[in-house]
Amino acid sequence: MDKYIIEGGRRLFGSVEAQSAKNSVLPLLAASILTGERVTIRKMPRITDALCMAQILRELGADVRLEGEDVTVESADACSHRLSSALTKELRSSVFMLGSLLTRFHRAAIAYPGGCDIGLRPIDIHLNALKRLGVDISERDGYILCECDRLRGAEIPIDFPSVGATENILLAAVMAEGRTVVQGAAKEPEIIDLQNFLNAMGARVRGAGSDVIEIEGVSSLGGVDYTPVKDRIEAGTFLIACAVCGGEVEVKGVRAENIGMLLHKLRENGCKIHIKNDKIKIASGGRLRCNRRIETMPFPGFPTDLQAQITALNASCEGCALIVENLFETRYKYVPELQKMGADIEVKGRHALVRGVERLHGASVVSGDLRGGAALVLAALGAEGTSEVLDLSHIDRGYSDLEGKLKSLGADIRRVRV
Ligand code: UD1
Repeated sequence: MDKYIIEGGRRLFGSVEAQSAKNSVLPLLAASILTGERVTIRKMPRITDALCMAQILRELGADVRLEGEDVTVESADACSHRLSSALTKELRSSVFMLGSLLTRFHRAAIAYPGGCDIGLRPIDIHLNALKRLGVDISERDGYILCECDRLRGAEIPIDFPSVGATENILLAAVMAEGRTVVQGAAKEPEIIDLQNFLNAMGARVRGAGSDVIEIEGVSSLGGVDYTPVKDRIEAGTFLIACAVCGGEVEVKGVRAENIGMLLHKLRENGCKIHIKNDKIKIASGGRLRCNRRIETMPFPGFPTDLQAQITALNASCEGCALIVENLFETRYKYVPELQKMGADIEVKGRHALVRGVERLHGASVVSGDLRGGAALVLAALGAEGTSEVLDLSHIDRGYSDLEGKLKSLGADIRRVRV
């Protein structure tokens, strides 16, 4: 297992380009088996979640090739509708495969995604929506079994704008008979990307980005050559890194409106933000101020996937910040690690009260999840002295070459095999 050794205190200068969005690439890969024709996804980041999804497609019988920066999928010979627990445990997003498998085979069997975490990350919204499309759902031996003679378009109101459930509905409704209308859909940019990808395959989907999405079922879909939207969470991580360390950094590829709430919060901290087309420049100097309150919300609210990173920033700002995590209850697991670096943070349920300290100090910390791990890296970059961040497997799920990109900005970070 690899670790990072980070010497804190370097300011960051330069320019980085965001990778393609993890949260786009995963549903796009799932969508690639909706046709037997060739699908090319350009610039697929070599993150382990995407590689795991590629492996899932291979196990279904698809021919998946990583060529340079791209990936091609040809699934004319795909024949299995069953995902084993070894794969679904590895990748919770494997739940997207339900929609694609149902469209392709009219049946799907997947082991409960995320293993025992199911209690914490339920999939009831996904399953209820599929039922409305005419799918029979049962459970046997830890598998969810879905079956239908045909998928029928339907009105689908969803109680909470779940990103994954909205995407699953698109994947299941795209070739259903008639028209599907999703009410209360999630509005994330990655959903617009999935709509564009499906329409480029010949689908008729409109409304993504708003809370009503209409899908007119078509009889077949063809191949596509597509470049996904850039990763607003990775881009946000670099912007926060610059805020933590001081300096001037330009992040290319992400439209400001896709991270509007983060930019607003960074300005509140005292950073200067300059936007030109898809380039965002941040300048940070001197001690920043804490944000008074940050609440994570579905898009366009503050993203839960940047909650840990902005908390790490606030940990050494002046004043106090109240962070409210509204999406995932257990998303403060990184806090005890930040405390090892001297952070003063009190967690109560969904709330974290951050009292900014003058400076964090280096420590040996363990990365227990993807975004929490990124937050520890940012904290270490700004801390006094040397830190080690242990277990990079979670960070590798969502960041491709994080250390290389940070190094190019002047950070002192090394990846070491343990
Ligand atoms: C997606 C993102 C993830 C991000 C999250 C919230 C991908 C691959 N992952 O995850 O990075 O953190 O959106 O922006 O795109 N819920 C239910 N029942 C369901 C589905 C969800 O109760 O059937 C709850 C979840 O427990 C959670 C909330 O809804 O509290 C948000 O979940 P959801 O939007 O579905 O997140 P994901 O699609 O899993």
